[in-house]
Amino acid sequence: MHNEFKPNLSVVTGASSGIGLAVTRRLLESGSKVVAMSRQIGGLGELVERFGDMLSWLPGDVTRVADLARLAQRVGTLGQVDCLVPNAGIAQLADGLDLAAFDRQWAVNGAGALNTLSSLRKHLAPEASVVFIGTFLEQATFAGLAAYIASKAALRAQMRTLAVELVPHGVRLNMVSPGPTATPIWGTLGLDEQALGSVANTVNQRLLTGQFLEPQAVADVILFQLSRGARGVYGQDWIVDNGYTLR
Ligand SMILES: NC(=O)c1ccc[n+]([C@@H]2O[C@H](COP(=O)([O-])OP(=O)(O)OC[C@H]3O[C@@H](n4cnc5c(N)ncnc54)[C@H](OP(=O)(O)O)[C@@H]3O)[C@@H](O)[C@H]2O)c1
Repeated sequence: MHNEFKPNLSVVTGASSGIGLAVTRRLLESGSKVVAMSRQIGGLGELVERFGDMLSWLPGDVTRVADLARLAQRVGTLGQVDCLVPNAGIAQLADGLDLAAFDRQWAVNGAGALNTLSSLRKHLAPEASVVFIGTFLEQATFAGLAAYIASKAALRAQMRTLAVELVPHGVRLNMVSPGPTATPIWGTLGLDEQALGSVANTVNQRLLTGQFLEPQAVADVILFQLSRGARGVYGQDWIVDNGYTLR
């Protein structure tokens, strides 16, 4: 079948939790070996038990060049990469004029994704597919998250031209921008429990479904974007947001 999705080797960063963990699970279920990087093993422990040698976890920080070099070295021993998802991300509330907050979040969300791709570039298979992770908030606003949103917006801008530059190398690059998704990232914003509950209520009211996305729902779109089924899609940003940005 033309659209059959059987990657041999995939790489996911930020794989220990949330969306990255769901993508890793889906890739393993599709029969791909996965090299996963994050600072902690987190939820990957369960997948290591279930999938054994198919999953190779490498502790590492995407802001550290030496860690990305170790990632490339590990990947080099396993073969060529069919699918790459540089998903590692952080979100921190800060004043919109606090440029240090932008630097911190860009280091992971933007430079981290670009350096991951750069480190693995020579290991990408012909017809490899790469999916960056953006955010629905670029189409909206969220007081306190200007630096976070800007880090993702800059990555998106770079993604579009990079997608053109990668075509001669046989690599297809796109982005998926999740909407509000039920993952631990919300608990790391810097809000107390009461404020977080109030944000969740406000967000829920704007969602067409009335509820946050499950990480699996985002992972399914990322998997399709990685697959041959999306072979005609280049440099696009797909928003998966339970309708949040329609209101
Ligand atoms: N959840 C949402 O509503 C939402 C909406 C839009 C976009 N996103 C984006 O989706 C992506 C995944 O987020 P999530 O919601 O799944 O959050 P999450 O559950 O907090 O997962 C974030 C992942 O990134 C890893 N990570 C963070 N900093 C890292 C670093 N310096 N080096 C390596 N790994 C690092 C974390 O692992 P360790 O801590 O173990 O390193 C974790 O595995 C992010 O890019 C986020 O911006 C999320």
